[in-house]
Amino acid sequence: SDYLLGIDIGGTKLAVGVVTRDGRVVAQERIPTQANQGPDMVIARVQELCRTVVRKAGITWEQVLACGVGCGGPLDIKRGRVMNPPNLPGWLDVPLVQTLEEAFGRPVYLDNDANAAALGEHRFGAGRGVRNMVYLTISTGIGGGLIFGGRLYSGENGNAGEIGHMSLNVNGRPCNCGGRGCLEAYASGTSIAARAREAVEAGESSLLTDLAGSPDAISGETVKEALLRGDALARRIWDETMEILGAGLANVINIFNPQRIVLGGGITNYGDLLFVPVRRIALARAMRPLASAVEIVPAELGNDVGILGAAAVVLERLEARTEVE
Ligand code: BGC
Ligand code: NA
Ligand code: ZN
Repeated sequence: SDYLLGIDIGGTKLAVGVVTRDGRVVAQERIPTQANQGPDMVIARVQELCRTVVRKAGITWEQVLACGVGCGGPLDIKRGRVMNPPNLPGWLDVPLVQTLEEAFGRPVYLDNDANAAALGEHRFGAGRGVRNMVYLTISTGIGGGLIFGGRLYSGENGNAGEIGHMSLNVNGRPCNCGGRGCLEAYASGTSIAARAREAVEAGESSLLTDLAGSPDAISGETVKEALLRGDALARRIWDETMEILGAGLANVINIFNPQRIVLGGGITNYGDLLFVPVRRIALARAMRPLASAVEIVPAELGNDVGILGAAAVVLERLEARTEVE
């Protein structure tokens, strides 16, 4: 069995691919999903896509060593279940591993989507050769993955690294996780759009409404577009976002003393608009010796990160098993 099947279940998309052990994507499929689709429909689509990529890759199921799945947390890794992720409404204690193992007759390894992406970037991308690395994905939600001593740190029950739910404002905006003032409640793509929409609805004048057509159509992309056209409101929302994200990263630096922080997810397409202020703010706020040890860099795997990350989950588990034996 020479191939791995990587499955990425996101809040707004599914991606599935056949991957070689050295990180080559041989065949892949990706489709958008609706947040309200619910688990049964999504898992049915996952199965279809997996059969399609196995066929496209020209391999048999016997050649698939194992399947890796990255999914938003929190998860019950031991029982292979998805608990109640903030960005997958309607998922509640879903037996994902069992369902897929029965469907494919292959072993299935589940991990948090950001942990998977961290493993993928560490093995194949921006974290190669780095011992202590923190990965953050900033998209629909904000996720994190912690690599210490070259290995994924999973915590007591597999859920370590929920960086998006670090509370930065004790009485701040309510978050989908049930908490308050979380990083995700300000700086995820969805929250940036929501904050812009609220400002417009409160009567602030801005290009945003014209660009989007109506206030409720304002998205992260609209904010970027308005920002590039010099809109003052978009600029303020963006500057605030950079302060909050920078403060969050300073906390990460102070707690973990990492060598590298890798930022991935849709928002990293903003390039310098993101990296210049975030580096400046995070490094100014973190304690000096810790700030001088860290680099903040963009992810390298782009659209393939979900698939490669899920494949890396399989490799990580198999290696960890060999070390114990
Ligand atoms: C979830 C994380 C996930 C992230 C990105 C967050 O809301 O709590 O587990 O990694 O979204 O999907
Ligand atoms: Na995580
Ligand atoms: Zn939260």
